[in-house]
Formats: sequence, structure tokens, C-alpha cells
Amino acid sequence: MALSRISVLLLLLVVKLGAATHAFLDLLKESDPVTDAITFHRRGTSRPAPSDKLPVLGLIELPSTHLDPPESELNHRKLRKALGKDFDPEYMAIGRPIIFVFQPNGTVSIKKRKGRPKGRRPDYVQEIGKPIRYGSQMRLPGLNINRRTKRKLKKYMWNYTHCPVVYAWKDLGIRFWPQWIKEGHCYNGRSCSIPPGMSCRPTGSETRTFFRWHCPVNKKGQSMKCKWIRIQYPIITECSCSC
Ligand SMILES: *[C@@H]1O[C@H](CO)[C@@H](O)[C@H](O)[C@H]1NC(C)=O
Ligand SMILES: *[C@@H]1O[C@H](CO)[C@@H](O)[C@H](O)[C@H]1NC(C)=O
Repeated sequence: MALSRISVLLLLLVVKLGAATHAFLDLLKESDPVTDAITFHRRGTSRPAPSDKLPVLGLIELPSTHLDPPESELNHRKLRKALGKDFDPEYMAIGRPIIFVFQPNGTVSIKKRKGRPKGRRPDYVQEIGKPIRYGSQMRLPGLNINRRTKRKLKKYMWNYTHCPVVYAWKDLGIRFWPQWIKEGHCYNGRSCSIPPGMSCRPTGSETRTFFRWHCPVNKKGQSMKCKWIRIQYPIITECSCSC
């Protein structure tokens, strides 16, 4: 298992950038569902394909230190400048963020508007309290409660079934710059449906550009000069209750 992962990563390091990348990633997808979640790309080339395998699980790196960037290549100021406007302090950090020490499991982020979860109100919320119909054959009574209580109940149901994003900082290791990423996860400590059965799953993601220390190998298997390349790292930004 670990060995096959390592060989897949070896292949990943061999991947030639450009047009071949997509085909190659498709190949990887078959052998390893994890590594395809990150897409390599060069500035100005086609957009990365979104992945349904989120969040990106721990990448297994080849241990050899000659694949690590040397001290001389870790000039933070220079790298910060090179990343330019792609540097997003909201989701990236060069050093370990303080909040990671206190909340290693992350923080729940509920986007609210007027005390309700942000976004469109789910259709089923509107049905709460209404008579229950079975075609024209049968009809059970609705909830005989005042409007205020009904409104509260609807809000509660909306809250109950809402799936917030849990953001947690993760150390990507020395071969990424910046080294820290704020990843999104969908909270799954309980079912989000009544009756239980559905769970929170990712429905929206964005990518951020990181540098990856890349040591390519040419066709003859000789290693070429290592350098920083840009990669697109996907981050979950939206979760929904689904089957
Ligand atoms: C984080 O999660 C782990 C395992 O789920 C748990 O044991 C630990 O207490 C949690 N830490 C905090 C600070 O919540
Ligand atoms: C719904 O959640 C919000 C927080 O997002 C809270 O302020 C509000 O009191 C909750 N409403 C009900 C009815 O549970």
C-alpha cells in the first residue's frame, strides 16, 4: 500500500507539465484516488479540473532529502514577492498560525445573514407545519401553532440541516510554499437530516496557488534542476446535506 503510493508519487514527480498533465492525472486517478486532487499547472494553461475527492488527504512524500528545497531557495521575502497577488493570507501562512495551537481541529464557520444560514432557503423548510397530503386520498392536519412559533421551528430546522465548513490549518511540509494551508472540511459529527441518514458533503471549492518544489526527471531518467512551480490546491468552501 505504502509502496504503491510512493511509486505513484514518483510518477507524479516525473509528470511533464503542459498538455500531457491532464492525461497523466487521469491515469493517476485510476491508480490513486488521492493524488489527482492536486493539479499541476503552468501559468496561463488550462484551468485545473475540479476534484470530487476533497479534502486532499495527506500526501505521501518520498523521504529523500535531496528532493527538499535547500536553505538558499527558502527566501521567504523572495517567494512572497514571486507569488504576488496569489498570496492569500486568509488561507495561507508561512509559519505555524497561533490559532492552530489552540484549535488544532479547526473552527466552525457559519456564514449568517439575519440570524439565518446564508444562502437560499431549502424548499422543505417552507413545508414545515403545513397539512400532510397523500394525493387527494388523504390529508393529515398541519401544525396548529402560532406564526411566531412556526417561524422559529422553520429557522431551527434550517439551522439543524445546515452544513457549515470547518476550517483547520494544515502543515503541507517543506516542499510547499507557503507551508501552511487553511483547509475546509465538512462537519460529520452527526447526521444533518431528520430522520438521520444524510450527511454533510462538499459542494463547493476554490483553489489557491501554492509553490511546489519540483524535481523533474527527463526521458532518460536523469534528474534535472529542481525548481519551484505553481500548483493549484483545492479548498472546500461549501458543504451541503445530501445522501
Ligand atoms: C481534536 O480531535 C481529537 C480527535 O478527534 C480529540 O481527541 C481532541 O481532544 C480534539 N482537540 C481539541 C482541542 O478539541
Ligand atoms: C439558528 O442559528 C443561529 C446561528 O447561526 C442562531 O443565532 C439562532 O438563534 C438559531 N435559531 C434557532 C431558531 O435555532
